[in-house]
Amino acid sequence: MEITALEGLGIGLTGIALTGSGSAVPDQVVDNEALAQVVETSDEWIASRTGIRQRRILPPTATLADLAAQAGDRALQAAGLAAIDLDLIVLATSTADDLFGTAAQVQAKLGASRAVAFDLTAACSGFVFALATAAQFVRTGVYQNVLIIGADALSRWVDWSDRRTCILFGDGAGAVVMQQNDTDQLLGFEMRSDGQLNSHLNLVHQGEPRSVVPDVTCGQGNYTPVTMNGQEVYRFAVTRVPEVVEKALFRAGLTAEAVDWLVLHQANQRILDAAATRLKIPGEKVLSNLGQYGNTSAASIPLVLDEAIRQGRVKSGDILAMAGFGAGLSWGGAIVRWGR
Ligand code: COA
Repeated sequence: MEITALEGLGIGLTGIALTGSGSAVPDQVVDNEALAQVVETSDEWIASRTGIRQRRILPPTATLADLAAQAGDRALQAAGLAAIDLDLIVLATSTADDLFGTAAQVQAKLGASRAVAFDLTAACSGFVFALATAAQFVRTGVYQNVLIIGADALSRWVDWSDRRTCILFGDGAGAVVMQQNDTDQLLGFEMRSDGQLNSHLNLVHQGEPRSVVPDVTCGQGNYTPVTMNGQEVYRFAVTRVPEVVEKALFRAGLTAEAVDWLVLHQANQRILDAAATRLKIPGEKVLSNLGQYGNTSAASIPLVLDEAIRQGRVKSGDILAMAGFGAGLSWGGAIVRWGR
């Protein structure tokens, strides 16, 4: 979109560009065969239903902030930007080290002392929501340089004895740098939520009544592990994802034919294939690294994107159709031209 068009709408003075990417994963690997030793499953079952072969697991000695900072540092290097020049860090995560927020720890680790930093929680839609949120600050001229990180360690919250969920998730982090630009490379986006469907996928706090003073109780306890209705989530994903990508394409004034790469949240290969088929986007344009990492929640889009950029597949000028979806339930799409 031309800047003049933005100005005409009265919504801003500048555009955005994504100028660098980075990612990081923990060293520990758990493959399907190893999982089959602890729950009743098999490599064949998992791979054929999901495309997942292995996942990475964050050890208890490491923090999510470590992983996020590593990904962020690599994205800054790729963009040729110094941490001190960052104005804002948005950390999309649902598995914070600290419920008060983890982004400030990432800021400190990077030495981005000028930047304000906050967490954004929207499960597997978190990265797309963070991208759209950050763009508003840059478009309005408030900030010039933003680091957007998606990082999650769902291994902390999965019931490792529940074969319906534990096979799906893995840990990781991915990041992109967003900078002020003459033209706006966020061509369109669309974000949606439906809390009526929350029970299909959640990670809820369960409080036991605890007396504070006579006649006043609070609820204290822990978070219960991830619970999921797999079939409902599957149905939701294969209908809502193509829909939201189409909506974002419409806002960009483009059709699916213009898309160079479909960069979907990596939840299940069958969901990727079904969405691509509905959008009539050929399989060779669909990025996937599910086999290696499983579902890394908010990290999955920047993780698979960074891999494709470093492999030289995604190039400057390519049109990316991204979509995240998951708990909330929430879903969102963004159409971006990579680079300046
Ligand atoms: N290994 C072996 N068998 C398993 C299993 C596992 N890991 N998990 C479930 N099963 C069994 C079930 O118990 C069931 O057995 P039954 O028929 O004897 O009752 C059978 O396999 C079929 O279960 P079902 O839940 O119908 O499987 P499915 O084809 O729907 O596949 C998912 C399950 C989870 C792979 C699929 O529903 C899915 O991918 N959903 C989307 C989940 C998702 O992406 N979540 C994250 C969104 S961000």
